[in-house]
Amino acid sequence: VVPDAAWAEEVRALARQRDAVLLAHNYQLPEIQDIADHTGDSLALSRIAAESSASTIVFCGVHFMAETAKILSPDKTVLIPDARAGCSLADSITADQLRAWKAEHPGAVVVSYVNTTADVKAETDICCTSSNAVDVVRSIPADREVLFLPDQFLGAHVRRETGRDNIHVWAGECHVHAGINGPELADRAAAFPDADLFIHPECGCATSALYLAGEGTVPAEQVKILSTGDMVKAARSTSATSVLVATEVGMLHQLRKAAPEIDFRAVNDRASCPYMKMITPAALLRSLRENADEVHVDAETARRARGAVQRMIEIGT
Ligand code: 13P
Ligand code: SF4
Repeated sequence: VVPDAAWAEEVRALARQRDAVLLAHNYQLPEIQDIADHTGDSLALSRIAAESSASTIVFCGVHFMAETAKILSPDKTVLIPDARAGCSLADSITADQLRAWKAEHPGAVVVSYVNTTADVKAETDICCTSSNAVDVVRSIPADREVLFLPDQFLGAHVRRETGRDNIHVWAGECHVHAGINGPELADRAAAFPDADLFIHPECGCATSALYLAGEGTVPAEQVKILSTGDMVKAARSTSATSVLVATEVGMLHQLRKAAPEIDFRAVNDRASCPYMKMITPAALLRSLRENADEVHVDAETARRARGAVQRMIEIGT
């Protein structure tokens, strides 16, 4: 399948027939981002999915995102163009592991990143995304212990920003972001000393970026730890003429559209998420033609997870 004008026309026509809204995460292939009704980060897309009046949501992203949309809108049909599009971070903790961890910390508030399965969300008090994780933890009384999962780097970021020492962090990671490492970032920053650094908090190199700022190698105001949606906002407001981007490479497409005059470069151009890239033009077309793959969440699991996801979409901007 070539993503040409005929493909775009068929996708649009089928979406209309099915009363479907097409959502695409910022890490999707450029042609998928361009055909979608909305592109955005995990939080923005969850909010759009919850508010949409369309009867079908086609989620061009990974499975936990489509599952989150289904939890929020159980009466809608939620499709993902390829149900095998998982997430190594979501796979880093199971509901059994979380139950055992909770038993070790009775009374602790459980904060789960949206990159988790529905079963894990059902054991959670509040979900968060990278754009509101700090606000979510700040909403919890300071004397309550917090279990933060599953991403260790986002957890470290939340600990730094809130200054709280009663946050226990699960040792999970996303293999794509963990692979963007500190030495690589330091080399790139040395080659482009005037560039802003846009760093996703899931990155292994986030601590190194703050270290570079702390020792004065990079001016502190050039180092920005941001969710993918906040990167787009920052691209529109920065005065920098070049930006080094530490996240999945699909992000460069929205950044270049938002600020064509800026030179955006990946810190690691091999940082491509194999799951996000399973949503091909052919998979999207098949999804709309066959009404597949439909995402189901068991009603009881969805009921138990819904409160945590709803709190997530209410907190932060
Ligand atoms: P955000 O788009 O919320 O920043 O999430 C990044 C991510 O890794 C999603 O898989
Ligand atoms: Fe999961 Fe990482 Fe891919 Fe995001 S980039 S979907 S966290 S594996």
